[in-house]
Amino acid sequence: MTTSNPKSVEAIIWRDGRLLLLDQRILPEQEVYLTYDSAEGVAGAIKDMVVRGAPAIGISAAYGVVLAARACFAADGDQWKTTIADKIQVLADSRPTAVNLFWALDNMQKAINHLSDQNDPEAVLLVEAIRIHESDIAANRTMGEFGAEIIAQSNDAGRSVMTHCNTGALATGGVGTALGVIRTAFEKGYIDHVHADETRPWFQGSRLTAWELMREGIPVSLNVEGAAAHVMRTQDISWVIVGADRITANGDVANKIGTYNLAVLAMHHGVRFMVVAPTSTIDMSLACGEDIVIEERDPEEVVCYKGLRVAPEGVEVFNPVFDVTPADLIDVIVTEKGIVERPDAEKMRALMSKDRLH
Ligand code: MRU
Repeated sequence: MTTSNPKSVEAIIWRDGRLLLLDQRILPEQEVYLTYDSAEGVAGAIKDMVVRGAPAIGISAAYGVVLAARACFAADGDQWKTTIADKIQVLADSRPTAVNLFWALDNMQKAINHLSDQNDPEAVLLVEAIRIHESDIAANRTMGEFGAEIIAQSNDAGRSVMTHCNTGALATGGVGTALGVIRTAFEKGYIDHVHADETRPWFQGSRLTAWELMREGIPVSLNVEGAAAHVMRTQDISWVIVGADRITANGDVANKIGTYNLAVLAMHHGVRFMVVAPTSTIDMSLACGEDIVIEERDPEEVVCYKGLRVAPEGVEVFNPVFDVTPADLIDVIVTEKGIVERPDAEKMRALMSKDRLH
């Protein structure tokens, strides 16, 4: 399976019955694919951030279910539909915030429900996992076009944009969500420069986004997060463009910690704020952002970097890795089904309505 841009990296590859994940913990120094042949292994890879980014987590988990089905059918025969439940739960427990994980597992469970107990499930479940993977690639392309068109229409051609975390090929099945819009807008000549927030504590912006953009020859400057207000004031930024891990029924957006800061700053500086996410990131079962479980990770991520201590021994740490941007700070949400300007509950309902033609 390939993305539309040959220079774009592939984070997730299914080959010869096994899952290959590009180890994002050691980029940009080393490009190493790790191989997985069990659901438990895939769950560990998600937890440890070998693979990260909401859509990429969902796609990987879908392939994890294929591996689980193979193991359960081999070990338990016609009891496989019962025994696979524990393995699916292990995948579900890997990370809590990105709803794409649970969306993908739900889709795989529906496919399981349609299967008989007696027949080998692997081939049919693989078709469903590939469908999930391919639909993300297609969604990336569509969102790229929609988002670029918004930039073109807002008379911002030739100006810079700012982004946060990594939302590119590494975080998705295709060319990316926010970074997909940035790529498309750059190809069409609508933007000429990207400002990337380094994104503490895991450095997705510096290690991953800057790397992806430089590989493609898209001009990028890296800034520490504390510089964001100054960048907005001095660098002719037209849009902040970010991805999402979960969008609730009222249009609130959970994304990488620091996104909310940027939205507040953007409002003050008259910079517009765009969220780009496939509808697999929208969770209509939650009323608002306060209902989202925000993952907190190991304090070591904050006090140490590559074994070097950057804080005193014993310091107390609060390490939430996502925050919630309220809908009223968002100018537009771009999905593959269409765009929602100034999101609210009514507009989100209309977007997600089964009656919508798309
Ligand atoms: O902790 P991570 O690296 O998985 O967080 C990723 C993000 O917050 C991304 O912005 C989000 O998943 C959207 S990616 C298309």
